[in-house]
Amino acid sequence: MLASAVRVPDHGRRVPFRFIAIAGDARQALGEAVAERGRSLDPQAGAAAWEKDRGRFGHAPLVVTVVARLDPADDRIPAQERLLSAGCACFALLQAAQGMGFGATWLTGWPAYDPEVQALLGLGPDERIAGFIHIGTPALEAPERERPDPSALLTRWTPPA
Ligand SMILES: Cc1cc2nc3c(=O)[nH]c(=O)nc-3n(C[C@H](O)[C@H](O)[C@H](O)COP(=O)(O)O)c2cc1C
Repeated sequence: MLASAVRVPDHGRRVPFRFIAIAGDARQALGEAVAERGRSLDPQAGAAAWEKDRGRFGHAPLVVTVVARLDPADDRIPAQERLLSAGCACFALLQAAQGMGFGATWLTGWPAYDPEVQALLGLGPDERIAGFIHIGTPALEAPERERPDPSALLTRWTPPA
């Protein structure tokens, strides 16, 4: 799966991503820490929010955090392009897992953007969480949702007369 995740377009071969596996007891430990952090940010949030945060990393046996590495000193390859590569790594990992018959989903939620959670996961100042890819055995068929009509999204550019 990781071999697929690294086969993504990467302008300048910067490898602007890395992976952090969260598995076993670490999932619950992270959930507890995230719940504590959530409570400190919003003490009024209540029991449902607390439980949701505690369980965030417990839905699947493996959560792979895809970290975007965005060196601000890199003035040759735009940061947007490096972030897009990290997004591609998320999608490639997702598709590899699904292609191998696992259930997989790409989630973020507020913890992905919280500096304390990022620090807890060991991110550096120039790193961001592109996604948490949850991977496991599907418990049920994922519900299908309405997809956009691709032809409605397509226009054809013509040169100005
Ligand atoms: C960057 C990113 C973050 C996402 N975060 C969440 C999330 O936190 N919670 C959620 O329910 N879906 C989130 N999604 C959407 C799911 O990955 C997924 O698209 C959704 O569950 C529907 O599944 P489907 O795309 O297979 O139909 C996110 C998608 C992206 C691209």
